Amino acid sequence: MDALAQFSLAGRRALVTGASRGIGRACALGLAQAGADVALVARDEAALQSLAAEVQALGRKALVCPADLAGPSACEGVVARAEEALGPIDTLLYAAGVTRRAPAAEVTQGQIDECLDVNSRSAFAMAQAIGRRLLAAGKPGSLIFIASLMSRGARPTTLPYGISKMALTGVVRGLAVEWAPHGIRANAIAPGYVRTALAAKVYDDPQLREWVTSRIPQGRWQEAEDYAPIAVFLASDASRVITGQIIFADGGWTAAL
Ligand SMILES: NC(=O)c1ccc[n+]([C@@H]2O[C@H](COP(=O)([O-])OP(=O)(O)OC[C@H]3O[C@@H](n4cnc5c(N)ncnc54)[C@H](OP(=O)(O)O)[C@@H]3O)[C@@H](O)[C@H]2O)c1
Repeated sequence: MDALAQFSLAGRRALVTGASRGIGRACALGLAQAGADVALVARDEAALQSLAAEVQALGRKALVCPADLAGPSACEGVVARAEEALGPIDTLLYAAGVTRRAPAAEVTQGQIDECLDVNSRSAFAMAQAIGRRLLAAGKPGSLIFIASLMSRGARPTTLPYGISKMALTGVVRGLAVEWAPHGIRANAIAPGYVRTALAAKVYDDPQLREWVTSRIPQGRWQEAEDYAPIAVFLASDASRVITGQIIFADGGWTAAL
């Protein structure tokens, strides 16, 4: 088969969380550009409506699916709604995420829970809700998560976020190994520092911004749009032998000494 044709997502149905802005929004648009219909999940309904209009202008279907992922219990209903509107979901792009910063001596269990709930527990619950349906139907699928540099290392004051992003690697590898025989893959994209709302506190502080920039071999922060083609690749048959991987897409950060 033609190599380029293997990147096509024609006929696919993807559920994208974190679709209201940033990396999730860019990836949702990328998946639609590659041919997928998309269910768009986040709390900001107006932002989802605006993205849905862009997706529909591409000739793809888009479902606006407002939901709060601070509790994993919402996930089953979200997937049921998406399937009712679009048909069976075969692709998950889980980009919803929050961060809580505090010195380790002051971190509360509540902050850890807030990060774990959105970044890891709901990530697993959404994948489980989609995966159960794929297993029952005997269909393949691709589950894609957004990890972090902090899935591998740490920085002062990022402990709650780091715990949740390291937990996410357990979700990726656990699902990948157990569901590989069923044709369901699980991978994560681990960005470096991306110019989005989540990293605004770092970007808006000139000293911190410069420190970060100086550590990136490519010499620039990543943009949300950098991740759309990687999401398309991981969703598509072009990546069919890749599963269980945390793919660092960080401008060289993790390669440098
Ligand atoms: N920016 C970076 O430097 C960076 C680096 C590494 C990894 N990441 C990861 O990339 C992913 C996307 O982040 P981003 O940088 O694009 O940040 P962002 O612009 O702040 O986007 C975060 C997304 O998560 C959604 N979200 C947050 N809490 C939610 C909740 N309780 N329920 C449902 N949706 C919720 C937000 O939607 P609503 O507010 O509309 O609900 C928004 O769409 C996150 O997992 C983040 O950890 C980011």
